[in-house]
Order: sequence, then structure tokens, then C-alpha cells
Amino acid sequence: MEKQEIRTFGRRHGKKLSARQQWLLDNILPTLFPKNESGNKPDILEIGFGAGEHLRELAENNPGKTVIGAEPFMNGVASLLSAITDETDSIRPEYKNIRIFADDVRDFLRETNSKFEQIWILHPDPWPKAKHEKRRLLHAEFIKTLSDHLTKNGKIIIGTDHWEYFDWITQEVKKTGLNYKIHNIETINTRYQKKNKAGTEAPKYLLIYN
Ligand SMILES: C[S@@+](CC[C@H](N)C(=O)[O-])C[C@H]1O[C@@H](n2cnc3c(N)ncnc32)[C@H](O)[C@@H]1O
Repeated sequence: MEKQEIRTFGRRHGKKLSARQQWLLDNILPTLFPKNESGNKPDILEIGFGAGEHLRELAENNPGKTVIGAEPFMNGVASLLSAITDETDSIRPEYKNIRIFADDVRDFLRETNSKFEQIWILHPDPWPKAKHEKRRLLHAEFIKTLSDHLTKNGKIIIGTDHWEYFDWITQEVKKTGLNYKIHNIETINTRYQKKNKAGTEAPKYLLIYN
């Protein structure tokens, strides 16, 4: 029997979706799923994009590249779909390079042989209670898997305002033997960044590179 993976995300559904959001999930989402990778391999991956603020920024800033986001929280996916479509239900030109995998990124990575120039993980769920620690996504084995999906000069960027989780992740990265450094970049504004549930001064960023 296949080993059941521990769930790393909180929920798939939140408050009831509007008719419009449901329509977008039923009709637009399937067109953005990377079914046939042969033609258009994604270059940049964002894991757990939430409502997609940063994913949209990546798409706008990298017009020649394909950006894929993985997120199992359907309300977040619906928010992103609303933001990237216009009143005629077409994808806005600046977001035509977005692809969405609306599920657990670990399933996506098992199925793809894509290599990414950048992999972003912003505010991963910290699972602060000791009994939930096993739910943390960024343990050494997973970070290794991510590094197998990096191009030659590729990099993984992790950011969190939960400093305890940050230190824990740093310890996990050390176990992998990969190159890493604490990365001082301007704070990236995402929904969770604004929430700042951890109550710390600022997020910390870690860069893992080949
Ligand atoms: C705390 S939220 C942060 C969302 C967003 N990055 C932000 O900064 O606003 C963490 C997100 O990671 C997603 N997540 C957790 N485990 C995941 C997994 N295995 N694959 C993809 N996304 C995951 C959750 O569904 C959730 O939306």
C-alpha cells in the first residue's frame, strides 16, 4: 500500500464561493492546468500562492517566462482567477503566462520533470504546535526534492515572518548539504505578510541555490 502523505495545508475550501468564482473554477481553471508539458514548460514555480498576489507579480515581471502556481485552497485559486480575467472572461494579456495546479504541490512535482529557474515559497504554514510539526512542508527530504527540480543556476526563495519556523527550516536545509544564505530582500507583500500573525517585525528570507 502506498504511504499516505501527511497533509501540509489547512483546508481546501473556505467561505462559500460566489457564482462567478465557481464559474471561473469550472471553466477557466481547466484551461490553465499544465496537461501537456511538451510545448510550454514552466520556468518559475510558486508553492502555496494563497490568493496569488505574488504569483501575478512574477507573471508581470517575467513576460517571456511561464509561471506556475500550486495551491490546494480553492478560495485562493478563485481569487487569482478573478484577478487575471477581464469582463469578457479572457485572461488579461499580462497574465497569459500563468498556469495553475490547484492541488498539493507534491503531487505536481511527482508528475513533472520540469526544472525551474526559481521556486518561491512565501509564508508556508508554520504549524506552530509541537503536535503538528510533522505537517510542516519544508523538511529536508522535501527541500531535496525541490532542489532536484532546479535548473543549473536555479534558486529556491523561502520567506516567513514566523521566525521559529524560519530557524527550523534553516536547520533542515543544513541537513541537505545544499548551498544557502540568509537573503536580505525588500519585504514582499502578500496577504499573509499583511496579516503578520506571528507578530514579528519583518519576514526573513532564505535563498537556496545550486
Ligand atoms: C499561510 S498561507 C500563505 C499564502 C501566500 N503565500 C501568502 O503569503 O499570502 C500558506 C499556503 O500554502 C498552501 N499550502 C500548504 N501546503 C501546500 C502544498 N503541499 N502544496 C501547495 N500549497 C500548499 C496553503 O493552502 C496556504 O494557502
